[in-house]
Amino acid sequence: MPIYHKQGNIPPKRHTQFRRPDGELYSEQLFGTIGFDGMSSLLYHHNRPTMVKELLKSTDVSPKIALEKHIRSLKLVSFNVAPKDDFLEAREPLLVNSDVHIGVAAPKKSMTTYFYKNADADEMLFIHKGSGVLRTLFGQIPFEYGDYLIIPRGVIYQINFDGEDNRIFYAESFTPIYTPKRYRNWFGQLLEHSPFCERDYKLPENLETFIDTDEHLMKVKKQGVVHEMVYVGHPFDVVGWDGYNYPYGFSIHNFEPITGRVHQPPPVHQTFETSAFVICSFVPRLYDYHPKSIPAPYNHSNIDSDEVLYYVDGDFMSRNGVAPGNISLHPAGIPHGPHPGAVERSIGQKGSEELAVMIDTFKPLKVTENALKIDDGDYYRSWLNA
Ligand SMILES: [Fe+2]
Repeated sequence: MPIYHKQGNIPPKRHTQFRRPDGELYSEQLFGTIGFDGMSSLLYHHNRPTMVKELLKSTDVSPKIALEKHIRSLKLVSFNVAPKDDFLEAREPLLVNSDVHIGVAAPKKSMTTYFYKNADADEMLFIHKGSGVLRTLFGQIPFEYGDYLIIPRGVIYQINFDGEDNRIFYAESFTPIYTPKRYRNWFGQLLEHSPFCERDYKLPENLETFIDTDEHLMKVKKQGVVHEMVYVGHPFDVVGWDGYNYPYGFSIHNFEPITGRVHQPPPVHQTFETSAFVICSFVPRLYDYHPKSIPAPYNHSNIDSDEVLYYVDGDFMSRNGVAPGNISLHPAGIPHGPHPGAVERSIGQKGSEELAVMIDTFKPLKVTENALKIDDGDYYRSWLNA
């Protein structure tokens, strides 16, 4: 997150003495990425953040692959995934490769009995249904329908929901998630042609500091295994921090669409990037305004990327028979395009109310056993004339 941000109390100079009211030193922690080359923050803990007391059980949660190599377009009905009480147990990885795990979750309960850290991956949580507060050691981020929550690897968090009807589309990325570089100047500031700007971000606020020497359960995901461990001292014992590496939110409703006289290509919808995939936001927008324009997209041969679309709301102009919560996979190697009738149907239309999130991966995606359970089975034939 290329904005400097701070919360709480910090010493005037880094790496200098900073003392608690009782005279003891606070524990400084550098929280960085990409060794010492990436973004980082400096946190000041009341207690040492290193006080592991017990290592408890470890649970392998690696995705179970059903289709390793395939060339089948899929439509997954993600609302058929049954809700579960626990946030971690509710997660169902659907489409995965060595760079990213894409899935859905329908958790019913807030996380209250443990803390969670993903040591493997940056997490993108897209909130389709539900609202609440993401509580982290950097502060709190309230969330609601349409929010992306970007949680860099290593952030300790809990998630609180206001109700039980929650639907989340998520991506766990094994490389850092950034905003597109082409929208930032050489200082990191978002440029005028960017579809969003710094004011749109939801930064962590209301830093909570809990001081105790009690035992607290932490679940750390590493190498596809969730390790349960007991720490001494509350994980949210930070009295202050500053820097660039922290979780943040961004509402898809604040993505300002880029439109043109003729059809604009998918990169205009790009919202986030990594070295291995991109995340795009399709939002309500005016259609192309050339007198002979065709608003529907042309057929395209994404020969070197797999395309995943998560349909959120509205009528998706180029598709027949998709509903909120559906996920389509258009695999690399074969062209795809509008469904029969969609091109003619789009001509003369003035705008779209469609809302969708797209993830294009540069490596092929494998299909999990969970995904096949919610596969509609016949989508790959859906471009035939009726
Ligand atoms: Fe496409």
